[in-house]
Amino acid sequence: MAELGFEDKVAIVTGAGGGLGQQHALLLASRGARVVVNDLGVSVTGESPDNSPAEAVARQIRDHGGDAVADTTSIASAEGGQALVQRALDTYGRIDIVVNNAGILRDVLFDDMTSDQLDPLIDVHLKGTFFVTRPAWIAMRKQGYGRVVNTTSAAGLLGTAKKSNYGAVKGGILGLTRVLAAEGAPHNIKVNAIAPFAMTRMLTHSMDSSADAVDLDPAVMEMMEGFMRKLDPALVSPVVAFLAHEQCPVSGEVYTVGGGQVSQFFIGRTQGYYNPALSVEDVRDHLEQIRDRTGYTVPADPGEESAQLFASIAGGSSLTPG
Ligand code: NAI
Repeated sequence: MAELGFEDKVAIVTGAGGGLGQQHALLLASRGARVVVNDLGVSVTGESPDNSPAEAVARQIRDHGGDAVADTTSIASAEGGQALVQRALDTYGRIDIVVNNAGILRDVLFDDMTSDQLDPLIDVHLKGTFFVTRPAWIAMRKQGYGRVVNTTSAAGLLGTAKKSNYGAVKGGILGLTRVLAAEGAPHNIKVNAIAPFAMTRMLTHSMDSSADAVDLDPAVMEMMEGFMRKLDPALVSPVVAFLAHEQCPVSGEVYTVGGGQVSQFFIGRTQGYYNPALSVEDVRDHLEQIRDRTGYTVPADPGEESAQLFASIAGGSSLTPG
């Protein structure tokens, strides 16, 4: 089988000055993509901007014979997103791929969450994904082609302590991915997301912060650290590159990936319980049936979900004539 290449394709990777984004940018560039390496060069918590990480990664790509420019704009504003996309258009004349990867953390228990911890997370992760994707979308629609890869998170989607801000924005990115997949379908724009797991400074920071929340046994910690060492960020990038490729057949999907293991996250619907005179006590008494995953379905869209709901109602005795 032929290798998957990105000749003639232009990609923006946000937060590509280190960690996962750097690996995504390196892989895309090594397969022929021209890459705009965006990074504000901030700390894990979003402080002390520095131009050097983006410049170093762009240089690394060029030193290996690839084509890349550095961009040090913050994607946390509409003007920043617009400027970044304009940079790609001015430099390379088109934009085919957006990898929304930039991110920060400000972990704190919900009781102590202030707007200082919440607003920057919303601005960078959720609004940042909007701010970069929207101007790129306009160009993608005009050319009838585009690929967007968003970054969500298992910690956000499945829920973990001290991350209500992060969970809220990563959940928002899931919803955005699904809606954009629906809107992009007629224009050959595919939009998917990854929930990565990789040993980066962000993961180290997260582990340090959860270690104070849960007092882990040192032996368990040691075993965890052994697994963590296998989580090379470069093992996440093949999924990003595939989702960014012309041959990607899927849209609106989420893949959880770490250390070479790739799986799909999906939203399932149980067969459930139907009663046209549903009461509070019915919910209590049938909770097991409501939660029973036997024969669950995975509705592709709200239309399919409501068709399943209407099928239950239509099959119900209350609607039987006479
Ligand atoms: P990282 O901290 O190494 O990289 C994040 C990059 O984003 C940094 O280089 C930072 O300078 C950049 N950045 C932050 N704010 C920016 C802004 N306003 N404009 C432009 N660049 C900005 O972290 P890592 O681990 O590589 O994370 C990448 C993405 O993956 C994030 O969205 C994160 O939430 C997500 N993720 C990572 C996981 C992991 O296991 N490492 C787990 C789940 C999700």
